[in-house]
Amino acid sequence: MPALPYPPRRRPDVARPPGPAAGTVLRSLVSRTPSRPVELLTELARTYPRIAYTRVANDHVYLLTHPDLVRELLTTHGRVTVKSQGLRVLRHLFGQGLLTSEGELHKRQRRMVQPAFHRERIAGYAQEMAAAAAEHGRRWEEGMVDPVESGTGLAVDMYAEMSALTLAVVGRTLFGSDLRGNVDRVARGLEETMRQYRRFLLPFGDRMLRMPLPWSLRTRSAGRQLDNVIREIIGARRASVASGAAAEAGDLLSMLMLAQEDGAGMTDEQLRDEVMTLMLAGHETTASTLSWAWYLLATHPRVSAALYAEVDARLGERPPACTDLTRLPFANAVIAETLRLYPPAWSMGRQLTSGIELDSWTLPAGSACVVSPWTLHRDPRFWPDPLAFRPERWLRPAEPDGTGCPVSGNGRGQRGANAEAAERTAAGKVFDPAAPGVPRGAWLSFGMGRRVCIGESFSWTESVLVLTSLLRRWRCELEPDARIATRPDITLRPAHGLPMRLHPRS
Ligand code: HEM
Repeated sequence: MPALPYPPRRRPDVARPPGPAAGTVLRSLVSRTPSRPVELLTELARTYPRIAYTRVANDHVYLLTHPDLVRELLTTHGRVTVKSQGLRVLRHLFGQGLLTSEGELHKRQRRMVQPAFHRERIAGYAQEMAAAAAEHGRRWEEGMVDPVESGTGLAVDMYAEMSALTLAVVGRTLFGSDLRGNVDRVARGLEETMRQYRRFLLPFGDRMLRMPLPWSLRTRSAGRQLDNVIREIIGARRASVASGAAAEAGDLLSMLMLAQEDGAGMTDEQLRDEVMTLMLAGHETTASTLSWAWYLLATHPRVSAALYAEVDARLGERPPACTDLTRLPFANAVIAETLRLYPPAWSMGRQLTSGIELDSWTLPAGSACVVSPWTLHRDPRFWPDPLAFRPERWLRPAEPDGTGCPVSGNGRGQRGANAEAAERTAAGKVFDPAAPGVPRGAWLSFGMGRRVCIGESFSWTESVLVLTSLLRRWRCELEPDARIATRPDITLRPAHGLPMRLHPRS
């Protein structure tokens, strides 16, 4: 494994764009107010509408606040960037999976993992997603104590519910049934890692993780627990393949085990790293999306009425299937608008391995660049009425011939796969995942360029299927005393959970 190109931090004398005083960003990361980092990013984006420069300890950091510069960094200059410190620290826990590896290793692994996310594979996973949603709904039914008569409904923390449900989906799609019995260990391990992520962003995050501090000991122990579970599952699967059982179980793990390049498959170590990565990247992001979608629907009755109308008209009594995805344009729009207002990946960082020119500034090698989907998605320059929850902004009139919107060629990554077959709504509208009229780079939920999310179609399928499956039978309201705030950890989560009350639809 070649050494990573960590460039030196000493800087030549170059002119810098204006920006906040050194230490401002650091203070936001250790603030007691959970949402402080995203608040600060918003303030900075308003004050510095294209690019800002600041110091974070020894690091020279550029914040890019304009879509043109974001695109340039992630696509044109993608080759001379590596992931930022926060993600590199994750390597101590998750090894070198797709999210954290670099260079040739990343390219090779991406080629090997990609087939597991082909469209026909997603259709197979969709059945598992729908089954997990149906099972979760049944558990809600069991939890109700004469709900219709009492009218009180079922009190839940919707964030905990969606986390459990998306973990079940990960279990079914990644491992088949092998995760059963280990769900609690995995959930605890992932939770601990998530909670500590903001510490990883601090200048000495990697060193602190290796020190015997209470939080770092807990995090490392959580990492070991996860590691043990995954190794047990891989070992058992290898043994069952060796004993002649079918190698192709139809799940992601079997795809990864069968993947080969130049006649060589993945080592157990690489398999472990990829599996850990997919669990981390795939579970919490979608849980956060679904949770915020429930919250937004509960607080926007007109939008939820429109969604119920679509679900009832298109699905009726039957559960959704993969083929329904394109028949539910408003549901897709609700997910897109949720991802706009609450992007799970609220910030992304890169470090430059060579100097670049950006917006007539010279950014020397070693500089860190930060891009924030949170601020770009809420920027009034690109999104009219940016704080309003308006799924209609993702709809546009159907083509005159009645076909779906041909957005697949617009360079917006895998969302094209969704768009390809987008169909007309009853009102003659189609879902347009390019967000009509919005410049490229102003929408960044799944990233852009060579490191774009590999699980985008997977996640979109899961979000729409799970949400519509549960909406068929349930409506929910926010508890009146609920405290709602964002907590930007590794993903953007509700800081105090999401206390809600579920009612069966009559
Ligand atoms: C709403 C759900 C999701 C969101 C918002 C999301 C977002 C992202 C973003 C922004 C990146 C790029 C990070 C960067 O450039 O620094 C990324 C990468 C990645 N995502 Fe997702 N993701 C989601 C769901 C998933 C799912 C379901 C999986 C897998 C099952 C997944 C697997 C990955 C992997 C492996 C990478 C690294 C790709 C690479 O560097 O080659 N993600 N994701």
